[in-house]
Amino acid sequence: MAAPDLGRIVADIYAELAPRIGEGEVADYIPELAQVNPRQFGIAVITPEGEVVTAGDADRPFSIQSISKVFLLTLALGRIGESLWTRVGREPSGSAFNSIVQLEQEAGRPRNPFINAGAIVVTDVAMAGHSPREAIGEILTFMRYLADDEDILIDQAVAASELATGARNQALGWFMRSFDRLDHDVDKVLGVYFHHCAIAMSCRQLARAGLFLAAGGRDPVRGHAVVRPARARRINALMLTCGLYDASGDFAYRVGLPGKSGVGGGILAVAPGRAAICVWSPGLDGFGNSRLGGQALEALARRTGWSVF
Ligand code: DON
Repeated sequence: MAAPDLGRIVADIYAELAPRIGEGEVADYIPELAQVNPRQFGIAVITPEGEVVTAGDADRPFSIQSISKVFLLTLALGRIGESLWTRVGREPSGSAFNSIVQLEQEAGRPRNPFINAGAIVVTDVAMAGHSPREAIGEILTFMRYLADDEDILIDQAVAASELATGARNQALGWFMRSFDRLDHDVDKVLGVYFHHCAIAMSCRQLARAGLFLAAGGRDPVRGHAVVRPARARRINALMLTCGLYDASGDFAYRVGLPGKSGVGGGILAVAPGRAAICVWSPGLDGFGNSRLGGQALEALARRTGWSVF
């Protein structure tokens, strides 16, 4: 198959969806995110050859929220390897990202690393040997390294907003604590968790940061190995099965690529061997996933023929 004309395809998709910018509801359970203008939409596609194609608000930083969980998982696997799976499962939950129901039924072991409970455990693992401040610094350094861009910050207002209103995550943390599932103080783990969710990045930066997942675990631009190829495949497998929560099956059907969403309205998607893609539009669907972002990825997969199937 001839290489798709990415510039043309991305421009077309942006133009087709532009009349719908503003659809969906911004996340309002985090007050600071409720302030975000929903009329924003960006797309960035980066290939292993280093071609970058963008449209719309691709350079505007937004709250990456749960997309951070992919990078925390990468760090935690680097820390303790496959023994991570004694702490958290690898099955889709079929429940909302912040659900507590299965935790009681499954002895406090979260179903997967991308639901909130699972990401809190992964954060606990990544904190080993670090103060909370050091752990946050390490995560930020990792994001800057992967994005090859020092200009990445934590939005402190978003972190504080989530801390102030994070009763549900506190409940998940304390509930897991009751099963002795956390090594660190619940408040410290949640502090680190809220801060990595509050990292602000643009579509361009996130697509660049995720490029190693599309390139067999290597940063193809600098020629550095980030993880081994098998680990990149496995992270992609988890993104495919669990990355969009209880809409993961529908996303696999419509888009056919591993993805990870966040309630800031971003979705990072991976077309192995082809590209890393980040789309962003703050209006969400009922599952907490970007409405326009999902549409854009569906159109991109259709137009390029990219699919893991
Ligand atoms: O913990 C939370 O609820 C948020 N910091 C992250 C949730 C999220 O992004 C779910 N994604 N769609």
